[in-house]
Amino acid sequence: MTVEREIPLSEAEIAVHWREEGYFSPPPKFIGQANASDPSIVDRYAEDRFPDCFTEYAELLSWDSYWHTVLDTSDPPFWKWFTGGRLNASYNCVDRHLAKDRNKAALIWVAEPENEPDAVITYQELYRRVNEFAALLRDYCGVRTGDRVTFHLPMVPELPVAMLACARLGAIHSEVFGGFSGTACGGRMADSGSRILVTMDGYYRNGQLADHKAKADEAVAEAAKQGQQVDKVLVFRRHRDRYSSPTPMVEGRDVFVDDILPEFRGRVVEPVSMPAEAPLFLMYTSGTTGKPKGCQHSTGGYLAYVAGTSKYYQDIHPQDTYWCCADIGWITGHSYIVYGPLALGTTTVLFEGAPTHPDAGRCWRIAERLGVTIFHTAPTTIRMLRKLGPEEPARYNYHFKHMTTVGEPIEPEVWRWYHRVVGKGEAVVVDTWWQTENGGFLGATLPALQPMKPGSCGPGVLGVYPVIYDEDGNTVEPGSGRAGNMCIRNPWPGIFQTIWGQPERFVDTYFRKYCRDPESKDWRDWPYFAGDGAVQAEDGYFRILGRVDDVINVAGHRLGTKELESASLTVEEIAEAAAVPVIDETRGRAVEMYVSLKPGQQPGKAVADKVSAAIDREIGKIARPKHVWIVSDMPKTRSGKIMRRVIAGISNFADVGDVSTLANPEIVDDIRHHVQSQKVDLGEVPRELSAQEADEIKAFGQEG
Ligand code: WTA
Repeated sequence: MTVEREIPLSEAEIAVHWREEGYFSPPPKFIGQANASDPSIVDRYAEDRFPDCFTEYAELLSWDSYWHTVLDTSDPPFWKWFTGGRLNASYNCVDRHLAKDRNKAALIWVAEPENEPDAVITYQELYRRVNEFAALLRDYCGVRTGDRVTFHLPMVPELPVAMLACARLGAIHSEVFGGFSGTACGGRMADSGSRILVTMDGYYRNGQLADHKAKADEAVAEAAKQGQQVDKVLVFRRHRDRYSSPTPMVEGRDVFVDDILPEFRGRVVEPVSMPAEAPLFLMYTSGTTGKPKGCQHSTGGYLAYVAGTSKYYQDIHPQDTYWCCADIGWITGHSYIVYGPLALGTTTVLFEGAPTHPDAGRCWRIAERLGVTIFHTAPTTIRMLRKLGPEEPARYNYHFKHMTTVGEPIEPEVWRWYHRVVGKGEAVVVDTWWQTENGGFLGATLPALQPMKPGSCGPGVLGVYPVIYDEDGNTVEPGSGRAGNMCIRNPWPGIFQTIWGQPERFVDTYFRKYCRDPESKDWRDWPYFAGDGAVQAEDGYFRILGRVDDVINVAGHRLGTKELESASLTVEEIAEAAAVPVIDETRGRAVEMYVSLKPGQQPGKAVADKVSAAIDREIGKIARPKHVWIVSDMPKTRSGKIMRRVIAGISNFADVGDVSTLANPEIVDDIRHHVQSQKVDLGEVPRELSAQEADEIKAFGQEG
């Protein structure tokens, strides 16, 4: 008998009853100028043209030599794109624009303090900086083609410069989001075998100058603990004339970049001609279990894919001023702040700070001042801006033609505010569904050709054929009203190549579930399992419901329950820990931790604070729980498994479902009383959950 089977719901069995939303059409002015305005483009990417259709994306790049095979399927599911081809990503994003656009702004960096001037970096200046830093990496640090180099950089121009410098050398960069802790950074250094860390002394966030250098010392210590020696820490200075961190430099290991850079003045580094399938970078992301996964992205396929999707879905023209208000520390920033826009030779804006600092008008002032035409952000930011300044956009004279949303499901109400108030009714909204693993968009509307529908990302993008499968691999038909597992039937050029150092995990996590024949070399037998629940409407549009695994999406950031729980267990007093999501009006979801103590330990605020601090230290502030609830025991199955859906139900004031099969059903009322009475005291009773939210909570924490 398996106790787990008694959990009634799986995503694939949920029937979803929401109202169908109406369509919105793109403004005629937008259609007139769009890159994709001829409906026949959809036929060019139809399934019978696959995989050759993607040569059109590859042709957007400059190749040193052309490929002989568009898609090599000889070692499934380790697909190789454009094999035989050679190119350099740095050349494609910088050098090739010089002839025509040497003096055009490649990057405009906006500092958080509003009185600090912008840094405008032309393609010529970018070329110079990338070359000099590449020379420094190669000749001072001994970085060679294929080496991994870790960055723990905030939103500063030094970050794209460092990325492109690595790409120039054929070295693999691995940027760790600046908001992550030093410990998290060190773990990723050890995993990737990286002996160089590039960081910065400090940066501004919400009006504070953060001491970022301190994290470098933690990172090096953690890497050492995990067996990885770090030889050099390169420290950029946030302010040219002074050191902005109270943390001392370590003799022989740490060096200020601006002290040694003059030695490399004017140096030119030949871009190394790389095979299309050479790795370009690693981007770590959370999974259900175990350590973070280093998603390895390719040079040729990835760059072609982000260039193509930037052109058709972001509608980037060279003359646009494009602002993606995400952090380069996430995949969105890699693909749609740096590589996509620069491959197309446009001007891309980088903003150091928080979108609400010092007030809710900040984004709109930047947009007005710089003449931003394309704006790209996440639902969590949109919700926050709507809450703080619902009328604010009207006060500023900016005009977007295009706006993107990414990272989590957007509520139709929030979508409509984005469209009407932020977009002033003049801009298209493109809701883009995809993942760190995917390199670029998978589900979105072609802005001039496919109408928008609030809350739906749209159909599969050009050349991508999604499908919803139920648990048994049967197709869930469009319009059936049933949800299931979002899958992609075919490979695409932006797909990650593997999980760094864990090829079996790559196959198991993404391909095992629906593989029809492990011996087959036909891509049709290897659908990609995305780990998201979704429904498809009659018109073919997908609506993403959220993760089906135990990953909590906080403000668009994926946090693994296991990571949160193991961080909590580093606190000596803690015996058991469970992480659950709570519906949060601005951040989408927030984390609540439930912990039980070892015998003889005293509950109290001190222990709860230690758990929060441990999560800060191990993962970073973004993961900080909204509450840490200390309970005498966890609700458990008879096989001893913690029933997360029960505590998730309690935290959300939702139905906890059937508890009669628990080993300790009496604990449920105790916990409910303990948690909900405190929430009531704090005024935290949530609004009633939508059917969809309630289903998500019910399905949380079950083994898929
Ligand atoms: C969620 C971010 C609904 C989804 C690019 C996915 C979305 C996870 C959307 C990936 C969207 C992303 N609508 N949900 N438009 N975009 N998601 O790896 O659950 O940080 O699996 O990549 O975010 O997050 P990741």
